[in-house]
Amino acid sequence: MDGQDHGHRTAWQPLALTDPAVAESGGWAVWYVAETGSTNADLLTATDAPNRTVLVAGHQTAGRGRLDRTWEAPAGANLLASIRFTEVPQRPADLTRAVGVAAVDAVAEVTGLGARLKWPNDVLLDGRKLAGILAQRSPAGPVVVGIGLNVGWCPAGAAALGPGVDPVAVLTALLAALDVPHVDDHARYHELLETLGREVRVELPSGDLVGRAVDVDRDGRLAVVDACAITHHIDAGDVVHLRGV
Ligand code: BTN
Repeated sequence: MDGQDHGHRTAWQPLALTDPAVAESGGWAVWYVAETGSTNADLLTATDAPNRTVLVAGHQTAGRGRLDRTWEAPAGANLLASIRFTEVPQRPADLTRAVGVAAVDAVAEVTGLGARLKWPNDVLLDGRKLAGILAQRSPAGPVVVGIGLNVGWCPAGAAALGPGVDPVAVLTALLAALDVPHVDDHARYHELLETLGREVRVELPSGDLVGRAVDVDRDGRLAVVDACAITHHIDAGDVVHLRGV
């Protein structure tokens, strides 16, 4: 990849991380595009992009969110980035959870703030959504994990880090955090998951489920016990935190 002659990728420019050693030691190839439809879409179709290619956008005109939603942010305000993984673990959801945990670590590193996670991978600050993560798999196998993290702007009811924070510094810390070895990644995810122990409403295509979130298994499924003591294992859905523990 040279950023020169790959169709729409002529617009990609190399992006310097705030700590160049992070790119070097982690083998990250980091690119910037001023405007694109969606960085996830771009990396899904960038078939020659190597493992750990990262694309950051100044603005997205068709940003994708979970559950077929859109993801919007004013130009230049927030971190909008996707990572292409061609080396995919046996459980691809491990990558998504690793990015969520790394985002929490990055926020702590850059701002000192203690973010948490909401199942499956929202990053919360004081209970409000700070970042969303969308993982998509291309038919050929590579997985693209995209993150939209509110830095200078957030929609009503959400959280942002504040305009004084450099989105590239947050990205640098996130990429560095992905390479910090941990004894048990699943245990770390569990610890950060504010959803566990909470009364939740899970909005499912079949209707709402209300109960207590008690566990997440290694495949990322949320276990929710309803009022009849029946345990439901949720693969995908929207969770609303109701009351505390
Ligand atoms: C969510 O709905 O919570 C997930 C939002 C993910 C948004 C990011 S922004 C960068 C990347 N490109 C996209 O089109 N979506 C993700």
